[in-house]
Amino acid sequence: MIKIAPSILAADPLNLERDVKAAQKAGCDWIHVDIMDAHFVPNLAYSAETVRRLREVTDLPLDVHLMMDNPEIMVDAFLDAGASCLTIHAEIDRNVPALLDRIRSRGRMAGIALRPGSPVEMITGILDRTDLALMMTVEPGFGGQKLDARVISKIRQLKDMGYTGEIEADGGIREDNLESLVTNGLTVAVMGTALFRNEDMAACVKRLHRIGRGE
Ligand code: DX5
Ligand code: ZN
Repeated sequence: MIKIAPSILAADPLNLERDVKAAQKAGCDWIHVDIMDAHFVPNLAYSAETVRRLREVTDLPLDVHLMMDNPEIMVDAFLDAGASCLTIHAEIDRNVPALLDRIRSRGRMAGIALRPGSPVEMITGILDRTDLALMMTVEPGFGGQKLDARVISKIRQLKDMGYTGEIEADGGIREDNLESLVTNGLTVAVMGTALFRNEDMAACVKRLHRIGRGE
């Protein structure tokens, strides 16, 4: 069963509680929270305080995606705030395995993310220290971009190597391209624009879950 994780980057920043509650009511499974530092990506988004408040208004897992060059200074703040899963990028110049271990040592899911152009080989040596592998299907930083179909082969590669964690994709996912992701091994679909711009989110989520079941 595919998990649908709406990305709040596409929600109304002045009405996050309303939009997150609507997403939960519509049957979404996780809430994806994009954090951006205006350095790893040319954009700035949200904070640990946002996560803390979201923890108070929804009981859905909070899937926090750190698009940051220096996540080590914020990992504890996001875990204290209630992040269920904390994902860092493999491309940063930091001790990534130690950061993953630190996230797991506090009983949360540790995620590793790759930009579209980064090969899966970058993370094969540390996959055993992760609970989730996030294959970005757009260049991180902005919602509303077109899915990079070349990334589907990276999802397939993770599945074929027997990766047992969650295989997540993020960026440009729509109803009309979800099936190809699912048949190649996707287990969590992050969707922003396609969900929050939809006039009937509940009906859309029902269709997405049906696609996830292969119906
Ligand atoms: C981009 C973010 C994505 C994005 C979702 O850096 O990580 O989560 O908001 O993209 P769309 O809106 O295309 O689903
Ligand atoms: Zn994201």
